Amino acid sequence: MHRTHTCGELTISDLGKTVVLSGWVQKSRDLGGMTFIDVRDRYGITQLVFDPADDESLRSEARALGREYVIKVTGKVIERESKNPKIPTGEIEIKVARLEVLSAAKLPPFTIEDDTDGGDDLRMKYRYLDLRRNPVRDNLILRHRLAQEIRSYLDVHHFLEVETPVLIKSTPEGARDFVVPSRMNPGEFYALPQSPQTFKQLLMVSGFDRYFQIVKCFRDEDLRADRQPEFTQIDCEMSFVEQEDILQLFEGLVKHLFKQVKDIDLGTIPRLPYDEAMRLYGSDKPDIRFGMPFVELNSILQGAGFPVFDNAPLVVGINAQGCASYTRKQLDALTDFVRRPQIGASGLVYLRYNEDGTLKSSVDKFYNQEQLQAWAAAFDARPGDLLLVMAGDTDRVRKQLSELRLEIASQLGLREKGVFAPLWVTDFPLLEWDDESERYHAMHHPFTSPKAEDIPLLETQPARVRANAYDLVINGTEIGGGSIRIHDRDLQSLMFKHLGFTPEEAQKQFGFLLEAFTYGAPPHGGIAFGFDRLVAVFAGLDSIRDVIAFPKNNAGRDVMIDSPSAISGEQLSELGIALR
Ligand code: AMO
Repeated sequence: MHRTHTCGELTISDLGKTVVLSGWVQKSRDLGGMTFIDVRDRYGITQLVFDPADDESLRSEARALGREYVIKVTGKVIERESKNPKIPTGEIEIKVARLEVLSAAKLPPFTIEDDTDGGDDLRMKYRYLDLRRNPVRDNLILRHRLAQEIRSYLDVHHFLEVETPVLIKSTPEGARDFVVPSRMNPGEFYALPQSPQTFKQLLMVSGFDRYFQIVKCFRDEDLRADRQPEFTQIDCEMSFVEQEDILQLFEGLVKHLFKQVKDIDLGTIPRLPYDEAMRLYGSDKPDIRFGMPFVELNSILQGAGFPVFDNAPLVVGINAQGCASYTRKQLDALTDFVRRPQIGASGLVYLRYNEDGTLKSSVDKFYNQEQLQAWAAAFDARPGDLLLVMAGDTDRVRKQLSELRLEIASQLGLREKGVFAPLWVTDFPLLEWDDESERYHAMHHPFTSPKAEDIPLLETQPARVRANAYDLVINGTEIGGGSIRIHDRDLQSLMFKHLGFTPEEAQKQFGFLLEAFTYGAPPHGGIAFGFDRLVAVFAGLDSIRDVIAFPKNNAGRDVMIDSPSAISGEQLSELGIALR
């Protein structure tokens, strides 16, 4: 027998028991002539004690053990002299009678401790060692917990988990596809799914009614902290529903997860239409853990002869409360922040509302005291506040100010990890103009239905058509997105037309779906959550890599297995592929 108990299990109530434990050597130390070894497994750490008075040679064997050796010991549970209240097994230790080395270990390339000395690259190369560390393992345990709770909630609500294929044909969701050559069909390729979108809709046509899948998706896009080339969605679809039904049901899921996993009662999730989100926060995924809404100032600040404001379509600002005491240097740093190429603003104007009630702006020569007062009043500003204002092209300046809002909130400590502020953003535009291809693209995807009342605008003002589409945002991260779908062949054909598909192209790419809609398609809609992002938010982490067992690095590489890699000429020719 390898073990009677785990290394996290034994307590004072087990005193006197003879037990067998197996695990990894965490560390060893000699103290008062005895040798102590911490043995670790997934469940915890137990202290072993080797007393030379009992068995000198056993103690020598113990002293020869290195870190990360896998051992098995038999011994008796005794009470510790110096107790460790921080761990569950801290009151006991095992007086070892037998020791067996199950597997020797080389010295690991970094220490297996909560705070390791290993850099990112090293930890990724030896990810299987990194996974022995508590924080990394705890993230995967959290991931597992969430997956279990998701399945249980959806099962109670009659969702069926159905697997959909991984070798498919491309679905246009905006990113590039990963493709897989077909040996049996030379010159032809499968695509890996960016999401199971069309399949879940076909399942609705099949009458499955409520579907879900915790499923790998693949997108060949540039990587960021919240993006991996392969990631996991909680993909869901329902029939005979309207937007409200979906929001209610999945609000229930989010609440269930916070309650079960974090014991947090979320309350009702607020909703904000897309237009409002852009106007108030300059973002379709605002972080609402804090306020700091935008205040539009065209009517107050234009016409005073300051050309930067006078010539701008939008003059807009935020109130950094309590920041009037910012030094010149701090203000310059904020200006540098918005001028960075990634943000690209030309500058930043400020108005200080000093503690003594005086007002001082960086553009005082254009505004008198009365105007400064109107400026401050527009923000409901109070002594101590700092008003920051930017001007420019509406979309661009909103985006820039949104970055500044987040930066200031971070500086002020308003983006706390333990605080969760979910938000539904609704009424997204159906279409989005793409300068490069000079045509409209579906903002969500081509299967999203326009709002019925906006359909007439499709011909005349396509950019103004709103969709029955919604996102779930938590703490400024887009966690999920979905929509009510088109279930009518003619409307779907019309959408393809507006997206620039000829009828032949639409038929070639989506004929199967258009045809399916002619065999009785129920009204349907759904949503998909980014599971990795959800786990990261729960764990309070910025990068989804930390919640994935074997993630890719920023160059899309798995440095542990060294992938992607070249394949042999033989494999290539079998696949009918000639490299340039
Ligand atoms: P969407 O493209 O919005 O919708 O994706 C849904 C959610 O998946 C997550 N996500 C990602 N997570 C990690 N890495 C990535 N590269 C990545 N890309 C997306 C996000 C996002 O909100 N078929 C539709 C859903 C639907 O309409 O039902 C879809 O895929 O959290």
